[in-house]
This record gives sequence, structure tokens and C-alpha cells, in this order.
Amino acid sequence: MNKIKRIAVICSGGDSQGMNTCIKTIVNVCTVHNIEVYAFNRGYQGLIENDIIKLNNEMVENIGHLGGCFIKVARSKEFLEQEGKQKAFNNIYKNEIDGVILIGGNGSFHGALEFVKVGIPIIGIPGTIDNDLYYTDRTLGFDTAVNNAVKAIDNIKQTMLANSRGIVIRVMGRDCGAIALNVAVACNAHALSVKEVPKTIDQIIDDLKVCMNNGVESPLVILNDYIEYSVEDVQKAMEKHLRIETRGSTLGYIQRGGSPSVEDRLLATQFGLTAVELLINGKTDLAVGVRNRNIISLSLIHIWRCRRTLGCR
Ligand code: F6P
Repeated sequence: MNKIKRIAVICSGGDSQGMNTCIKTIVNVCTVHNIEVYAFNRGYQGLIENDIIKLNNEMVENIGHLGGCFIKVARSKEFLEQEGKQKAFNNIYKNEIDGVILIGGNGSFHGALEFVKVGIPIIGIPGTIDNDLYYTDRTLGFDTAVNNAVKAIDNIKQTMLANSRGIVIRVMGRDCGAIALNVAVACNAHALSVKEVPKTIDQIIDDLKVCMNNGVESPLVILNDYIEYSVEDVQKAMEKHLRIETRGSTLGYIQRGGSPSVEDRLLATQFGLTAVELLINGKTDLAVGVRNRNIISLSLIHIWRCRRTLGCR
């Protein structure tokens, strides 16, 4: 078994809560094993530009409870080009990195396959609020994003109820309805429209009519990112057809910011520990995940293609 001396961490795509907890775990575990930890700032783009920093326990001591990403994230168009990839790999060789831990979502995992092709040891950790990777029940950030959205909607509901108004809320999640579905259930929404099960505005109005006939005063509608009509479109339709004053909000980045939930912190710690152990044990080309509360690892080559589009697990 090759002795791993240097690991590099890369966070790619959108940031998600739990990334910092995971970075802290990786650094702490590596220190115990006398492994040096480096980070390339700004994902694959920072790797291309050799934007590298050495991490130590002191630097990461107080980041575990913070949202955002200490080593920055980015999406890189240059990494899609052969020249960009070559520059990136040259920096791995130049810095004598023995293994890479990548934290990111579906697009970033696709990029990780390029490392597999050239034989650079790599382990993926799922980090995205969207929870759109089918092989894992959870991705880092999803639980916090759902909780943030629920807290925001609870607040909105209180003031809307006081005014007997209707409510329309758009949540994040790209083309995956997982955040929207979980939020809708947790907030007792009266209508939900997601890309996987889209409803027309007329269908939403029909659903709400039934609820209002049964005594609902402030009907709540949840839409996700990729629904083609706007919050305002639904708002106007509710005012016109249901004769109820209605307000709308697009929650946006409030969902992606803020301290990671306990669930995300625990998961990030387990993911970080497992990723380091896999590299130490000579394993590569794997992505870690969680199924039925057990930590698992599966081949990166097989997983990136299949995406979860909706899930309430
Ligand atoms: O994929 C993660 C995510 O946060 C999505 O939920 C959202 O649609 C997208 O990223 C936003 O990306 P950006 O930060 O580039 O605006």
C-alpha cells in the first residue's frame, strides 16, 4: 500500500452548509495520520491557477459551525477544455499531491472522472443543497437549506395569517424538487409545483379552491426553481380567481447561507473521516454517501450519470 503524504481538498460548484465542517474534519484526521493537507481555492479554477494553501488545525479550528466555504468555491469553464485540464493535473503533480478529496455536486463529480482517467487518486464527497445525487440519501447542505426555508416560511405565514392573505413561495434546488417537496410537507402547503410533477396555474387554483372551501384562510403554494411561470403569475391568478389578496416571495440564497444543522455537521464529519480513511487504505475513484444511516462508498464512474429528481427520504 502506498503511503499517502499529501492530500488536496477542492470544493466545487455552489457552496453548501457542511463544507466547512468537512474540511475541518479532513484536516484534523490527516494531522493524526501525519498527512499534509492542502487546499486549492475556488474549485477546479483554483487548481488550474495553482491557487494553493496549506491547511493546519489552527486555521480550521473555528470553521466547523459556519456556512459558506472557507476555501471558496467556483464553477470552471476552463476545466472543460483539454488545456485547462492539463494545467490542473500539472499542478497536482508539481505539488506532489498523492490524493484529492473533492466536495461538490453532480457537475463537480463529472469533473472528477477526468482525474480517474489520468490515474490521480480521488474521493468525492456530495456537497450541494439540492440533494440531487441518487446514490446517497443526503448531500451536505440539504437539511440546513430545508430548515432555513421552513423557518422563513413559518415567519411569513404568521404575518400572512394575520391578514388572511394567500402565500406563494419559490424555493431553490435547480431542477430537483427535493427541497420543495420537503418544505411543502413540513409547512403544510396546499399546492406544490416542481419540475418532476409540474402543475399548471389552473390546476393550482383548483387545488386551492378545494382547500378554501374546507376553511383554509391563507393558502400556501410552493414552487421550485425550474417552474417556468413566476411567483407573480400565481399571485395574480389567486387574486383573480380566488379573490384573495396574495403575497409572494422567492427565498433565494437565505437557504444556502447560515450555520449547518446538526444533521449536516454529523454527516460532514462522517464523510470527511471516511474519505481520508479510504485514501489511506489505497482506495480511489469512489464517492462517499449515506444510505439508511450507514456511510457507504460507490464508484464515481457509475454514479454521476444518475440523478435523483425528487425525494422525501
Ligand atoms: O446547485 C446548487 C444551487 O444552490 C441551486 O440550488 C441553485 O439553483 C444554484 O446553485 C444557484 O447557483 P449560483 O450560486 O451560481 O447562483
